[in-house]
Amino acid sequence: MHAAQSVLVVGGTGRTGSRVVQQLLARGLEVRVVVRSSAKLAPELMNIPRLKVTEASLLALSAPELQRLVSGCDAVISCLGHVLGFKGIFGAPRDLVTCAVTRLCEAIEAQRPRTPIKFIVMSSVSVHRSNGLDARRSAFERAFLWVLCRLVPPARDNQRAAEFLLEQVGTRHPFVEWVVIRPDTLLEGDVTPYAVHAEIVDSLFSPGCTNMANVAHVMCELVTNASLWSQWKYQLPVVVNDQRSTPAIGP
Ligand SMILES: NC(=O)c1ccc[n+]([C@@H]2O[C@H](COP(=O)([O-])OP(=O)(O)OC[C@H]3O[C@@H](n4cnc5c(N)ncnc54)[C@H](OP(=O)(O)O)[C@@H]3O)[C@@H](O)[C@H]2O)c1
Repeated sequence: MHAAQSVLVVGGTGRTGSRVVQQLLARGLEVRVVVRSSAKLAPELMNIPRLKVTEASLLALSAPELQRLVSGCDAVISCLGHVLGFKGIFGAPRDLVTCAVTRLCEAIEAQRPRTPIKFIVMSSVSVHRSNGLDARRSAFERAFLWVLCRLVPPARDNQRAAEFLLEQVGTRHPFVEWVVIRPDTLLEGDVTPYAVHAEIVDSLFSPGCTNMANVAHVMCELVTNASLWSQWKYQLPVVVNDQRSTPAIGP
């Protein structure tokens, strides 16, 4: 019998991250979380032996501590996000996601795992792929995003984290494979049919919507479904609730 897959989740107390933790546990996987306060985790989860909780501020962990956390993991999922409010958006750490992604990749690299670790990062449709990709985005939208990245630290942070994976980790890394998930406006609600697109589908000024439960679902599918992983690795798929006649995934 194969051992259950083990997944490290950072940002697991967040609105999306908590759904990821619940769905991974419901699928029988072993889950490790690093949380600033375990009181923010749902109380019923605390009795599940397959959930291992480390209470710490992620960016304050040393390199050896991060290496211990990723050691033996099959996948790492980041649902980190800047806390809404002036301090969360403009205060430190402005590079939360980029710094966490970079340091976790370094920790994986230091472990030299026998098979590459899947790294899934929650991002946003505001993240733009350069070099002619995301061609459906208008010149005006690209100009708007350029300004947004300079004025709004979380937008810049998500963009830089994606660029780190695209440009520094790339597609030939021996130890890290990655997917950057780009949801549109986040909504509450259960898992519903949703679509996964290689490209932007909605304009920034007429946004689509994505249930957080659907973001969690696609992340869990990517961890557990090898063919879906092969299909999307090294890409920045856009995940939106299925309101059109596009191929849908879901319950
Ligand atoms: N809002 C939208 O409509 C939308 C749409 C698309 C994409 N996104 C992106 O999706 C991501 C997640 O969104 P969400 O709404 O699910 O996030 P969220 O509920 O705000 O959760 C953020 C998570 O990050 C953690 N965190 C924040 N600052 C931290 C720090 N300094 N050190 C360690 N952990 C820290 C929080 O921990 P604590 O619980 O300890 O605070 C929490 O677990 C964000 O990157 C956001 O840009 C958002």
